[in-house]
Amino acid sequence: MKTVVISLGGSILIPGLENHRIRDYVPVLKKIAKKCQLYVVVGGGGEARRYIEVSRKMGIDEGTSDEIGILITRLNATLLIASLGNDAYPKVAETHNEAKKFGESGKIVIMGGITPGQTTDAVAAVLSERVNAAVFINATSVDGIYTADPKKDPKATRFDTMTPRKLLTIVGGTGLGAGSNNVLDIVAARVVERSNIPLIVLDGSKPANLSDAILKGMFRGTIVSKSGKNPFPV
Ligand code: UTP
Repeated sequence: MKTVVISLGGSILIPGLENHRIRDYVPVLKKIAKKCQLYVVVGGGGEARRYIEVSRKMGIDEGTSDEIGILITRLNATLLIASLGNDAYPKVAETHNEAKKFGESGKIVIMGGITPGQTTDAVAAVLSERVNAAVFINATSVDGIYTADPKKDPKATRFDTMTPRKLLTIVGGTGLGAGSNNVLDIVAARVVERSNIPLIVLDGSKPANLSDAILKGMFRGTIVSKSGKNPFPV
């Protein structure tokens, strides 16, 4: 069985607690996990953003604000684990070692954040290396990597494929404050560059996009790898 790591953006899974989408993702993740060993790293979403905003307004330093963000990602991860029931390993992995160990159960392993100064994308990128993933998916709210932020610039165009080096030049110019919102954080981009594991950036706001990509090889997004080949179906 091949291994797949998904960085599941909090902005698509839990944009806010009142409009969370956990119910929509559960059956899809269960279906995917029948065909591959699945690791899911969950982001903080709207709640993390709100907490970090309050933290900043209180004059609390960035590192502590990051710690607050991490706690929220782990809360979201706990909610997802409980919703997946018996198909998920029952504890949020708090280190990559733990995640690897939990993976021996064959169940879906869920992580949140681990350390300040990065986002859950970086957690997922390193996890992909640790568990020798066949592919690393960044499921986010845009359908790939664009020349500029497509939500702000209507002239932005999407890359179908891109080398890891090019990705580094694109994300290199962006900031990394607590709660910062880029297509992928710089730490994750560096890890992708050294790991040679293909990264797929796709629109994960429709859960079926994940199963179509992983199980059928059908997706719209950006492939980041030296070869540019479609790594699916796994
Ligand atoms: P996210 O990974 O959710 O960041 O972590 P994000 O860029 O806001 O992603 P989306 O919008 O959910 O897709 C939330 C915050 O938690 C802290 C950071 O402050 C981050 O912005 N965090 C998370 C860490 O400091 N370290 C981690 O390992 C993970």
